[in-house]
Amino acid sequence: MVVEIFDVKTGKTLPKKIEILAEEEKEDLLEEKHYMLKEILEQPKTIVKATEQEEQKLIDVALDMLRAKTVVFTACGTARYAAIIGRYLLSKVANKFSDVIMSHEFQYFSDSIDKDTLVIAVSQSGETADVLEGVEKAKEKGAKVIAITNVVGSSLARIADYTFYLNCGTEVAVASTKAFTGQLVVLYLLAFAAINKIKKCKDSVTEVAKKIEENIHQNDSVLKELAEKMKDKKDIYYLAKGIDFAIASEGALKLKELSYMHAEGMPAGELKHGTLSLIEEGTPIVAICPKDYTCKETLNNAQEAKSRGGFIIGVSDENNDLFDVWLKIPKVEEIYYPIVSVIPLQLLAYYTAVAKGNNPDKPRNLAKSVTVK
Ligand code: AGP
Repeated sequence: MVVEIFDVKTGKTLPKKIEILAEEEKEDLLEEKHYMLKEILEQPKTIVKATEQEEQKLIDVALDMLRAKTVVFTACGTARYAAIIGRYLLSKVANKFSDVIMSHEFQYFSDSIDKDTLVIAVSQSGETADVLEGVEKAKEKGAKVIAITNVVGSSLARIADYTFYLNCGTEVAVASTKAFTGQLVVLYLLAFAAINKIKKCKDSVTEVAKKIEENIHQNDSVLKELAEKMKDKKDIYYLAKGIDFAIASEGALKLKELSYMHAEGMPAGELKHGTLSLIEEGTPIVAICPKDYTCKETLNNAQEAKSRGGFIIGVSDENNDLFDVWLKIPKVEEIYYPIVSVIPLQLLAYYTAVAKGNNPDKPRNLAKSVTVK
């Protein structure tokens, strides 16, 4: 294909750089009933695809992260929950403190942004107006911008100094699933690049993907039965701690987007500071407690809810007497539990929407990408 750009007045060819973007893939539903289910089930493959990143770029950005005075993540919705996990990873793996600012609040912090700030913008579409506005402000102040996005050639990718693509293919369903786990993979790679362990990280992620593949249908009948119970509930709470906390928020976001129920995710330790008064007989509580450094305390907090009548749905690699329902996840290296814990929560949101007769691909009032302020 030959592409030329002309000046309409003079007819002369303009010396514009032409960038050919990969042709958008056609997404077929094949066997699955909904795109959302198809995209959830694709994750063992898309997680591995997300590891295909240029090593030198990962090292350069990791060094920029370590050198920067301040590292700030900015994102909205699901992408922001990925960024929160990125923040925990930077601290835990690379001993680097960072912060996460919702993109629509970013402008109120622009006074503290300068040329020594590294901004990491996470956005599936790369077209979210709030994200673009925040990033443009940061650039004006001289900050360097890193993009983690899925859509090749998106506005965010064009503004950023460095871009990492998720390589997970078009995400059609409004509720983000495979892009979230892809974002996590890039964030793991960046954190491990900072301590020179990219290869080890890629191997670990590939192993995690295998375990997800083996586990992805294990909870199907439990989830379908649970979805039938959940569909008549009004409120549901998701608890987790440390690196798993953002998975509680992401699980709650998925459920409220698709089932139109009130769902709230919170750090488990926050329960006793107010929300506990809302727990009554039969209130569903999802406790995300893989056998990692957070497990014991999350279980203690879930116990407090149980003794007020809470119905405990445990997400863990090990069953516990406290659980009324157990959603089993595979055992993986401790730091990778967020990737495996989110999968049954995506499925729970999907099956609850289906049980309620909602279209999980197109929830009411929501758009796939929010391009207006
Ligand atoms: C995710 O399920 C939501 N539909 C929504 O929160 C989304 O993540 C948010 O609007 C950000 O979109 P982006 O990643 O394209 O910037």
